[in-house]
Amino acid sequence: MAINKQPKKPLFNLIHSKLAITLFFIVVFTIPALLLLHTPSASLCTTLSSNNPWSGDLRDTVFPWNRLKFVDHEPPPITLKIAVFSRKWPTSSTPGGMERHAHTLHMALARRGHQVHIFTSPIDDDIASIKQRMQIQKSPNLSPIVHWHEGEPDKWRYNKAWEQFEEENKLKSFDVIHSESVALPHWLARQVPNLVVSWHGIALESVQSSIYQDLTRKPDEPISPAFNQSLQGVIPKVLNEIRFFKNYAHHVAISDSCGEMLRDVYQIPTKRVHVIVNGVNEEDFTQDLSLGHEFRSRIGVPRNASLVLGVAGRLVKDKGHPLLYEAFSKLKLKHPNVYLIVAGSGPWQSRYKELGSQVIVLGSMNPIELHGFYNAIDIFVNPTLRPQGLDLTLMEAMMSGKPVMASRFPSIKGTIVVDDEFGFMFSPNVESLIESLESVVAEGSKRLSQRGKACQKYAASMFTAQKMAMAYERLFLCIKNQTFCMYP
Ligand SMILES: *[C@@H]1O[C@H](CO)[C@@H](O)[C@H](O)[C@H]1NC(C)=O
Ligand SMILES: *[C@@H]1O[C@H](CO)[C@@H](O)[C@H](O)[C@H]1NC(C)=O
Ligand SMILES: *[C@@H]1O[C@H](CO)[C@@H](O)[C@H](O)[C@H]1NC(C)=O
Repeated sequence: MAINKQPKKPLFNLIHSKLAITLFFIVVFTIPALLLLHTPSASLCTTLSSNNPWSGDLRDTVFPWNRLKFVDHEPPPITLKIAVFSRKWPTSSTPGGMERHAHTLHMALARRGHQVHIFTSPIDDDIASIKQRMQIQKSPNLSPIVHWHEGEPDKWRYNKAWEQFEEENKLKSFDVIHSESVALPHWLARQVPNLVVSWHGIALESVQSSIYQDLTRKPDEPISPAFNQSLQGVIPKVLNEIRFFKNYAHHVAISDSCGEMLRDVYQIPTKRVHVIVNGVNEEDFTQDLSLGHEFRSRIGVPRNASLVLGVAGRLVKDKGHPLLYEAFSKLKLKHPNVYLIVAGSGPWQSRYKELGSQVIVLGSMNPIELHGFYNAIDIFVNPTLRPQGLDLTLMEAMMSGKPVMASRFPSIKGTIVVDDEFGFMFSPNVESLIESLESVVAEGSKRLSQRGKACQKYAASMFTAQKMAMAYERLFLCIKNQTFCMYP
């Protein structure tokens, strides 16, 4: 086996890279902070909540389109032929991240009567044909048409997909082409004026991620070679992205802060950057008190529990589990009636089990079980160290009527916890997390459930899959014909 030996770098080079990281730290944190001082949420809230709703050219907006009202009980003014490039098209019921977004969005657009063609990597042949037949039988015209390119299962080959796209485009031109991240690479995207790309995390956000992750390292803990290696690549990655992103005609950012970075650091013209926050299925996540009670007793939360915290997702280091593990192991000694429910799987699952009876470890859960989980807790905790994108779990918890506590990232602060009423934010370190947890315990479950009501209301207005689909539909219409860019 070959060991990849790094040549020793002269000292000034090391200083150089440290300096570069510091500089980026300044860029990443100061610019958005300065912008937030005099822009969006505050002034916008007044504009939108007053009797005069916002009107104008949608391409000039910097706030999320989710804040606007769209007519969703009528069919669209025209139906579009839409091409979607997605590395994968989910076949299981619990796909993650990007695929789930593509699936939720385009199923909804197809139901609204648009002709949606998905260009994606192959899956096992038998499953593919069964799935396809089932979809067609269920609703012959209201499903996306899936084009699996040939080749190995799950191996994305954009050039194969592009060939299929061109065939289909010859029959009748597509009105809009949607790429999930770089599924369609920039050298092809450059030729496509009616293209929309959705970014679910950009390299500039991963700079922050590296900073937060390294800061959690103990003074005597050596930096892991893999992480050290990735640090070297972080800034070149950002520079590379800045150089090629402009080849995509339209950009969808999934958080306010990502939109800001695309405009202010990536230098994409405002008119080509649109913020549309991802949505979650509103039917899957509702407030249901009796379900919550039932779930609690089923998993063995004792009746004398004064407060129940919940955490869900992949139980890995970069989702901040070392922080929560340490913080809760201290908190539980002081507060013997406070419980933590852990949903999800990953390396930290067994660590949590070591913490004793105040921690209930459930393993991974499907959406139905998650619905019970959210209803069973008093507050949802997300100690993530990864600011890339925006975790859907935060929206699911709020939709289920629960307040949240999360790492103070520009994305979370700018798009999720936009009102102090919605919960708590902490710096991603143990001390700050404990401090936040102590405030939550001091507040108690009654106050938290009040906060939860505010969360539910906000989430229902902003984070539904329907709202996301309507916002994308409007963007696609606007790209097809400029008259649709004028709102309302
Ligand atoms: C990290 O990487 C730099 C540059 O590649 C190298 O000089 C340094 O020794 C590495 N440090 C560790 C702890 O691996
Ligand atoms: C809460 O109840 C459990 C069992 O129902 C019991 O073991 C525990 O001691 C109680 N805790 C306190 C602090 O009263
Ligand atoms: C754009 O839409 C408007 C209103 O529906 C219509 O009058 C106009 O002809 C359309 N333009 C094009 C180029 O299709």
